[in-house]
Amino acid sequence: MNILVTGATGVLGRSVLNELRSRDIQAQGFGRSDQADLQGDLLNRDSLGGTIQGFNVVVHCATALAAHEDKQMTANLIHALQAEQDAGRLQNLVYVSISGVDQVTAFPYYSAKLHSERLIEGSGLPHTILRATQFFDLADYLLKQLRFGSLQLASPHLRMQPVAPQAVGVRLADLALLPAAGRVLDIAGPERLSLSDMARIAARSSRRRYLLHLPLPIPALRKGRLIPARCESVGCTYREWLAAHGTGPSHYSRKYPLRRV
Ligand SMILES: NC(=O)c1ccc[n+]([C@@H]2O[C@H](COP(=O)([O-])OP(=O)(O)OC[C@H]3O[C@@H](n4cnc5c(N)ncnc54)[C@H](OP(=O)(O)O)[C@@H]3O)[C@@H](O)[C@H]2O)c1
Repeated sequence: MNILVTGATGVLGRSVLNELRSRDIQAQGFGRSDQADLQGDLLNRDSLGGTIQGFNVVVHCATALAAHEDKQMTANLIHALQAEQDAGRLQNLVYVSISGVDQVTAFPYYSAKLHSERLIEGSGLPHTILRATQFFDLADYLLKQLRFGSLQLASPHLRMQPVAPQAVGVRLADLALLPAAGRVLDIAGPERLSLSDMARIAARSSRRRYLLHLPLPIPALRKGRLIPARCESVGCTYREWLAAHGTGPSHYSRKYPLRRV
């Protein structure tokens, strides 16, 4: 089996690659930078045919915050994989989406993820779709963006069931080795937490003494829409993740430097 992982330099793609390689499975990472095994731009359809060739399984973890780019990347990947499908090589296109994308349509990025799910479902390609909840790294990044000196903003209304991306990587590696299964059960972490809960846990683990919780009105996220009704619960708790990963700058702060924190 020959596996390609897109988004291989990202948080999740890196975890999937590490997991596959730890099982001695041949897998190559695809991305734009020279850190990837295979270089290419998913927004450039014409360049993909020569690169994305000869793979039985593709785990699609590449993403762009701009919704139109995210949709285009999936469309281009599907286009490139049609040739693999016609040649009888493709066994599974594994796609990772987000829990609640069909509930939170006010966010263009979430609509793009839902659109990508539908593109894949309608493509005729053998596929598996796994929806995951927010990664600890992302919640951590959000908290850092909401920290101003000794002031931490956080909302008790923003509720989620965050998960360690490493655990999602393990699940995706499992799925990559199984026959295409369509949409499978969502994956989430072991605890349901609000952003305020996470701020408190982070403050305790770094011995900070300040917290201010603001009930940020985010109607689109009311009623716990990011929390899956049914899911497989995996991985460590946020407290354990913080202890293991420290409080250094996250991948997302380097990638999306809204504020230097
Ligand atoms: N973060 C979360 O909390 C979360 C939760 C649930 C599901 N997910 C889903 O998990 C997936 C991975 O998310 P992530 O947080 O790991 O993403 P990430 O860290 O932001 O990584 C994105 C990856 O996409 C690649 N990429 C971007 N534009 C590209 C292009 N034009 N051509 C080729 N590669 C491109 C980037 O590579 P280069 O920039 O190096 O080219 C990078 O490797 C996404 O589908 C996301 O929706 C994320």
